[in-house]
Order: sequence, then structure tokens, then C-alpha cells
Amino acid sequence: MEQPLVGIIMGSDSDLEVMSEAAQTLERLGVPFEVSIVSAHRTPVQAEEYAAQAEDRGLRVIIAAAGGAAHLAGVAAAWTTLPVLGVPIRTSTMGGLDSLLSMVQMPSGVPVGVVSINGAKNAAILAAQIVALRDARVAQGLKEMKRRQADEVNAKAARLAEIGIKGYLEGMKKQ
Ligand code: RP5
Repeated sequence: MEQPLVGIIMGSDSDLEVMSEAAQTLERLGVPFEVSIVSAHRTPVQAEEYAAQAEDRGLRVIIAAAGGAAHLAGVAAAWTTLPVLGVPIRTSTMGGLDSLLSMVQMPSGVPVGVVSINGAKNAAILAAQIVALRDARVAQGLKEMKRRQADEVNAKAARLAEIGIKGYLEGMKKQ
């Protein structure tokens, strides 16, 4: 087993479906990670321990996801100097604005890097970019991912130029 470099934590198993995208992205980029459920409110002692011990356990970044009164990323940031990336989870009551605001409005001196609502993939890419500062293989993987993304958009632009709006939209409907 490779030493995990990224720790993905989430407040509840109800966050897992969204956060599985972060896991898949890290897997694709070859970044070793671990996943756990830790709640700022329901398991506060474990939340403290996780963050306080993360650096000594060899983690380099923490991704923390939570919804509603989304305090997990902030609590983690209180207990570590590792970078903490927050993923606000979409909620049924307020669409995730509650999660976003409770995560992003950290007091000065205790930052959390917050991505978009349900932005698990971007959190994973950011985490990989942090790991890549000291890992040439991950850096190369990120460059290739960016190139693939650009190729996909360029192929779409070429197809749109070739068949026009009507044909393109019809093709999209068939997919
Ligand atoms: C937060 O409360 C979790 O991160 C989750 O997004 C939300 C709801 O949790 P459950 O009631 O579904 O366990 O702590």
C-alpha cells in the first residue's frame, strides 16, 4: 500500500456519492489517498484527531466535504497547517448555499480553500496540483489531463464548424 498523500474526509456517508468523484480523479492522476467519514459535530474528537495527526501520518493535503452547517473543513483547518480544501455539498433545503457560506467565511488567519458546490473533482485536481509541486509524475499527469481536455473542446469546435448549429444540436439529442 502506498502512503496516502491526500486525505478525503466528509461529514456523512450521504456525502459519499459526490465525493467519489474526488476519489476517481485522484486515482486517475495516480495520487494515493485515503477516505473517511468524520463529523465536526457528531464525532468532534475524531475530527480534531484526524486533522491534528494528518501531517505526522504523511498526508500533504486534506479535502473536507460537508453540507448544511458545514464546519468540517474549518475545524480541520483549525488543527493543522496542511492546506485544507473544502467541498460544500448541495443541500435539499438551500441548494448548498448554506454549505458554501458556512465553509467559505473563515476567520482571518485560518484559511480554507473552497471550491464550488459539489466541486469534488476540482478539489481533487487542486489537491493533485499541491502534491505535484514535489512530484514530477503527478505534474506530468496533470499536464496530460489539461491537454486531453483542450483536445476534447477543440474537437467539438471543429465539429460545430463542420456541421453547424442545427446538426450539432441534433447530434447532442441522440447522445
Ligand atoms: C453534514 O450534514 C454532512 O456533511 C452532510 O452533508 C449533512 C447531512 O448529514 P446526514 O444527516 O445526511 O448524515 O454534517
